[in-house]
Amino acid sequence: MSQKRLQEIKKIIDKANYHYYGLDEPILTDAEYDKYMQELFGIEKNHPEWVTEDSPSQRVGGFVASQFPKIRHPEPLLSLDNAFHAEDLKDFDCRVRMVAPDAEYVVELKIDGLTVALTYEDGLLIRGATRGDGEVGEEITANVKTIRAVPLRIRTEAGIPVSSQLDVRGEGYMPKESFLQLNSEREEEGLSLFANPRNAAAGSLRQQDSKITARRKLGYFSYQIIQAENLGIRTQKEVLQTLKNYGFHVNPDYKVFKTIEQVIAYCSQMTGERHNLPYEIDGLVIKVNHFAHQRELGYTAKSPRWAIAYKFPAEQVETVVKDIEINVGRTGVLTPTAIVREVFVAGSTVSRATLHNQDNIRDKDIRIGDYVLLHKAGDVIPEIIKSLPEKRSGTERIFEMPSACPSCGRPVFRPGGEAAHRCLNSSCPSRQREAIIHFVSREAMNIEGLGPAVIYQLLENRLIGDAADLYFLEYDKLLALERMGDKSAQNLLHAIETSKQRGLAPLIFALGIRHVGVKVGKVLANRYGNMDALRNAALEDLKEIGDIGETMAKSIISFFQDQANLDFLEKLRKAGVKMTADHTVTSQILAGKSIVVTGTLKFWDRREIEGFIEQLGGKSSSSVSKKTSFVVCGESAGSKLTKAKELGIPVFNEDEFKSFLHIANEDKINTDT
Ligand code: IVH
Repeated sequence: MSQKRLQEIKKIIDKANYHYYGLDEPILTDAEYDKYMQELFGIEKNHPEWVTEDSPSQRVGGFVASQFPKIRHPEPLLSLDNAFHAEDLKDFDCRVRMVAPDAEYVVELKIDGLTVALTYEDGLLIRGATRGDGEVGEEITANVKTIRAVPLRIRTEAGIPVSSQLDVRGEGYMPKESFLQLNSEREEEGLSLFANPRNAAAGSLRQQDSKITARRKLGYFSYQIIQAENLGIRTQKEVLQTLKNYGFHVNPDYKVFKTIEQVIAYCSQMTGERHNLPYEIDGLVIKVNHFAHQRELGYTAKSPRWAIAYKFPAEQVETVVKDIEINVGRTGVLTPTAIVREVFVAGSTVSRATLHNQDNIRDKDIRIGDYVLLHKAGDVIPEIIKSLPEKRSGTERIFEMPSACPSCGRPVFRPGGEAAHRCLNSSCPSRQREAIIHFVSREAMNIEGLGPAVIYQLLENRLIGDAADLYFLEYDKLLALERMGDKSAQNLLHAIETSKQRGLAPLIFALGIRHVGVKVGKVLANRYGNMDALRNAALEDLKEIGDIGETMAKSIISFFQDQANLDFLEKLRKAGVKMTADHTVTSQILAGKSIVVTGTLKFWDRREIEGFIEQLGGKSSSSVSKKTSFVVCGESAGSKLTKAKELGIPVFNEDEFKSFLHIANEDKINTDT
């Protein structure tokens, strides 16, 4: 046992941690990892003088134990398109019937919980996982095992075949009664309350201690078998029946219908009856029954074309505006927020509602003291629909936007043509704070454990001035903060360290360039591959990219012209924040080509194929002309195909184009890590 061996093991463990947490690509099995950890502990026990601050042993009980391992789902978990009205369902039906005229539908309740993916091997439950981002979820097996509705072993009586691996998906949820009981207990203990059963279920499944999960009385309804076809199953109805035979809970309120009118009638029936159910549902899921039809209908980039979620209409409630507050966001926009008398709406208690801007307040004539009608926009964001002037007493006050920024005191402007009032001071404390909150957020640098409260604390104590300073935080200084324990400080530093490897696309989004959202971050990362290339991009070059218009292109250019932003980037670079994309499509095989896509495609969503063409250097155009290099043609193409033929322009079908791209893919796509 030498000090050399100790160094060796530490290196291996660190590397394994990095691959595991940073890249989601484990290089050691759990058993191997444990073996190294045991060896490390052994050496350190004999030589306490060799224990260093940065030894992996110092993290045990800290982040290692407080994180759930990440796992990649065998098949991504897709989401569903939403329908809000009968008309949307009729449109869906038309789309379905164009492909499968005699399709029938299975209608299931849409349980308001969270997706839980189960994996069985030879009939035994070996893994339970959350949805995560759809591709990678968190492994929560121990907690899932506490849900009584989840069979630990599949029932195999009556000769039902079971494939050696079986992946079942369904919804974990908390019954209304358990939810109310849990919250009343928490209230007595002075703990914070869960806003709704869905949050409570999610929180329960992410407990470190499974005993707590077990006490929360969760339910589980299954609705999908990934290997269904291998089992000879041909319809969704058979899936549900098989699941039941296997011993799973299947929600009993599913129905099979032949027409969309029957589906609509059932949706409206359940809209009335949903409050009588012992659990919350937020709608119904309509699925084409036969797999043969499902196959023909296929998928868009994110969701199946053979299913749709009917979402219940948002609920509306009455409340009172007690006050109006102003929040100054990271781009300097002053957003008025109504502080309202607490009300329960669409599954949670609401005490604040966005008022968007002054015009909205004036148009709806919302005054302080007014009775108002409130709902949740998109079922999430509390919003005031209208004021109820007939209920006024005469004491209500008209709200005026302040002329000075409530955070820094500088004058507020309303730029011409904009609804928003803005604080233009880029060092306004509120703006800086919000910029940091954005920088660390999930879709940006995803620094866990760094909520607004800690950010306020760090700013107040002058440990940071901007987000880049996070990367220079020191353990001792962090520990000196109020309410910051050793474990939280270590976890925080680790999360910050991990975020350095987050990659180019989230980093671009994190910068908070106006108009640049998550998706555009990805597009830019793909196109430019590294931060310097993006910084040097010309306006014309940016505008060439499909998803980027004039305003956005200008905003990107002006971001990189601002010296303060360049200094900020330099600080990030010095800190070691990764500024290159993981997978850079370097092939420009379609450079200089103008390509028209027409007809209905089997493999791609229209945007997807257009994105691909652009990544490979081509230009995707909507009309055929002499300049068109070639046409990619799907089913039932019309006038564009005719015109291409007239002009003698080459036409490829999807398979031909796909195999061409495949070659391009294998030959030319570099992995640049
Ligand atoms: S089917 C491709 N069926 O609703 C199939 N989903 O976006 C996708 N959900 O997060 C899901 N009850 O967790 C399906 N009976 C049901 C469901 C259901 C609830 C959830 C699911 C997903 C969301 C759909």
